[in-house]
Amino acid sequence: TSSQLWTGRFTEATDAFVEQFTASEHFDRRLYQHDIRGSIAHARMLTKVGVLTEDERDAIIKGLEEILVEIERGDFAWLPELEDVHMNIEKRLTDRIGDAGKKLHTGRSRNDQVATDIRLYLRDSIALIRQELIRFQKGLVELAEREADTIMPGFTHLQVAQPITFGHHMLAWYEMLVRDQGRLEDCAKRMNIMPLGSAALAGTSFPIDRDFTAAELGFDAPSNNSLDAVSDRDFAIEFSAAAAITLTHLSRMAEEMIIWASPLTGFIELPDRFCTGSSIMPQKKNPDVAEIVRGKTARVNGQLMALLTLMKSQPLAYNRDNQEDKEPLFDTIDTLRNCLHAFADMVPALTVNRKTTYEAARKGFATATDLADYLVRKGVPFRDAHEIVGRSVRYGVEQGKDLSEMSLEELRQFSDVIAADVHDVLTLEGSVGARDHFGGTAPAQVRLQVKRAKERLNQL
Ligand code: ARG
Repeated sequence: TSSQLWTGRFTEATDAFVEQFTASEHFDRRLYQHDIRGSIAHARMLTKVGVLTEDERDAIIKGLEEILVEIERGDFAWLPELEDVHMNIEKRLTDRIGDAGKKLHTGRSRNDQVATDIRLYLRDSIALIRQELIRFQKGLVELAEREADTIMPGFTHLQVAQPITFGHHMLAWYEMLVRDQGRLEDCAKRMNIMPLGSAALAGTSFPIDRDFTAAELGFDAPSNNSLDAVSDRDFAIEFSAAAAITLTHLSRMAEEMIIWASPLTGFIELPDRFCTGSSIMPQKKNPDVAEIVRGKTARVNGQLMALLTLMKSQPLAYNRDNQEDKEPLFDTIDTLRNCLHAFADMVPALTVNRKTTYEAARKGFATATDLADYLVRKGVPFRDAHEIVGRSVRYGVEQGKDLSEMSLEELRQFSDVIAADVHDVLTLEGSVGARDHFGGTAPAQVRLQVKRAKERLNQL
């Protein structure tokens, strides 16, 4: 059709199916703000170096700002035959302001334009995701403080291992998120290099000032190599990898909350507003938010694979394949942001059934290691101590008694170095309190880590 911007070389119109098949405006239109920002910076730069007049520049900027309003009002007529967001906006600009609009694309290609737009878009998206990540971290730290003394079983192999504090467990989640934030920030830093000026692949013959455009758009620097800048999407892959790792962490948290909210453990209560019922079973209260987050991890992992596979083996420089980068990237951005939003709201609002977590720790011989450590302090070699405690546990299983419920006489059947002071180490409070070193589960250490975390979060 005649609305296309490159009819000159062609002797027939594009096949109708191909027009639809190759169009991306229905998904890349979400780049409109960043496309307009990039175009305004480009027009300013072209004026600075004398390629555009000030009048042309002003007409372009005014036209683009009006188009921005049009799009935001929902009045913009998106046309698939114009392929993508870039040509839709450029065509509309030319319709509005005439020849000045046709000059905007001087010294530029959609290849460097789109590579720039995605980076601008992803930079803003990362900033929004980072806010949710920090909000979630703050919620976890508050929950950790509230539950610093709460005793629960710690697990390995999902078997009761040793008593821990609930606050310590929440701070484990917090640490995962701190690293996730670091990965996002690294990615944002490496990505903040401007492709604009690379044009199609080789640069442009116009006397462009790329430092000027980079400064206008908040990039740290213009790219060093035009071929690389228009063709690589490693920054999108890197972001998606960071997102997949974050979702992997969220899925582990989800799994634990699902187990803890189940009547099988009954450790926590999730607020009703984050749960859903069953259409048939009236008693049900299901942890669907956690399950959805666990499920969303699959699609984010899938999108990472899509982007890796998209980039694999592409020869330099730009190939149209790269148009396929957007849907996986946008989906990953949305999914990550929504999952963090949901957990930042829900997790700090959970309540811990402290009696239940305490009883669960009491039942599983969780202080067996403490008894072994006690024997070691009385001079028994650790391997022998392990064996002695193993026999005590077997006796406890037969008698239906926890170690802390056994009398001194009962315990002394297994070793005569055991004395009255043994009961100090067999209590759950004694056990967690004893792990009072940096990084340990003792309530005092949880409080110390809460303080450190708050100091860090206050500086962000
Ligand atoms: N829509 C394309 C993309 O997303 C940009 C246009 C480049 N097209 C081209 N034929 N060189 O990558």
